[in-house]
Amino acid sequence: MVSRRNFLRTSSLLAAGTMLPGVSHSNVLNSLSAIDRVNVGLIGCRNMGWYDLTDSLKHPNVRCVALCDVNRPLLEKRAAELDKDYQQKVDLYNDYRRLLDRKDIDIVIIGTPDHWHCLQFVDACSAGKSVYVEKPIANSIAECDAMVYAANRYDTVVQVGQQQRSAKHWKEMIDYLNEGHLGTIGQVNVWANFNYGAIASHVADSPQPEGVDFAMWLGPAPEVPFNTSRFNGLWRLYWDYGGGLLTDWGVHLLDMALWGMKVNGMPNKTVGIGGNYFYPEGGHETFDSLNVTYQFDNFVINWSNNAGIETGLGGRNYGVMFRGTNGSLVADRNNWEVIPEGSKLSYRKSQADNKDHQDHVTNFLNCVDTKNRKTSCPIETGSLSAKYAHLGNISARMGGALLTYNEQLKHFDNKAANKYLQPTYHHPWKFPRTK
Ligand SMILES: NC(=O)c1ccc[n+]([C@@H]2O[C@H](COP(=O)([O-])OP(=O)(O)OC[C@H]3O[C@@H](n4cnc5c(N)ncnc54)[C@H](O)[C@@H]3O)[C@@H](O)[C@H]2O)c1
Repeated sequence: MVSRRNFLRTSSLLAAGTMLPGVSHSNVLNSLSAIDRVNVGLIGCRNMGWYDLTDSLKHPNVRCVALCDVNRPLLEKRAAELDKDYQQKVDLYNDYRRLLDRKDIDIVIIGTPDHWHCLQFVDACSAGKSVYVEKPIANSIAECDAMVYAANRYDTVVQVGQQQRSAKHWKEMIDYLNEGHLGTIGQVNVWANFNYGAIASHVADSPQPEGVDFAMWLGPAPEVPFNTSRFNGLWRLYWDYGGGLLTDWGVHLLDMALWGMKVNGMPNKTVGIGGNYFYPEGGHETFDSLNVTYQFDNFVINWSNNAGIETGLGGRNYGVMFRGTNGSLVADRNNWEVIPEGSKLSYRKSQADNKDHQDHVTNFLNCVDTKNRKTSCPIETGSLSAKYAHLGNISARMGGALLTYNEQLKHFDNKAANKYLQPTYHHPWKFPRTK
């Protein structure tokens, strides 16, 4: 099993933003255009939501007026930080609906675990807010549909937290691919190998920590006793709240594969095979070893994740590799390079500027200011890559079923697979409309 010490090291790196290249820590912004004053409320304050907020606050006209979390001590700690570092006093909420009731809030950032995104997003849209929602947009395919429907119904300006969409070097990569240098691309490989994907261990249930409202943490998910192994961050490894490395990293990286290959719909076929083979004694439900193939008319996209090891293709523990007849292009958040096939191409390398997260937040603020729904990552883009991630997990959870998903009819060609499309919400939470 991955040692807790190793995981803690990984998760503190995550928390420090070093696993998220592009989360810039400079206090000065010079790339923002002047925007009118906006008030922000943050729902889910521990990790990524906090980075989304603090990068927003680098703009002088953005003010945080409310924080919401089900963990009271954390909420108070964040409020104290806002007061000390930004001289901003905020109101604190346990129930996000009370934050949404506030008429003075223009923007809501959703940084909760994946199983909460759909309800909070739909409610924020219907309350007339602009929304920055973290990825994957949802923990199921039907929730993705409900969110796309709500955003269009309420004409909401949305940015999905897939910040690679705002990165200079990824955009340069797309231009390079569009210019056709690689020849015929028949295969794209996408992979993510991270220790934290296998960290959850079996621990006894325990009383919920002082100041934590675990029933509200669970919300629409099935009722279970409190267990530290499902809580802060670790929820990613349990199907009721997340989808393992395929939803966590897959939405970022598959998004690049789909963008590069100009894919706007579902694949012809999907097959996923996985299991917990590296760490069978671990507590995680999501697969530590997983391969998924998405088949299209003229190419395949392959996903692979290995949790508990951190090495990978081309010396990169995560990345995307487009394989063409003239050469291959391999990319991660640091750079991309072209590996020629014989002498058909010249070697080329392009470096990241590490501003992707800040630029992504800035793009959102500018779009809110101008009421422009064409953000760098609108809800439809987030929905597409989230659905790909769920397709792969569903096939693998069925032991390797070969699946075709019909986007018009919104079902699979396989009855057993259809039961994975929509979670049963726990009372009193109601599944939102999808049309
Ligand atoms: N864009 C990126 O690169 C990136 C990186 C990390 C995480 N994320 C995404 O951000 C989201 C949050 O991940 P994390 O790592 O910050 O998780 P986390 O567990 O560290 O933080 C989630 C926070 O939400 C709070 N919360 C839970 N239920 C709530 C509710 N009903 N109301 C209010 N608060 C509630 C929790 O108490 C916790 O403080 C996930 O969707 C994740 O995939 C994105």
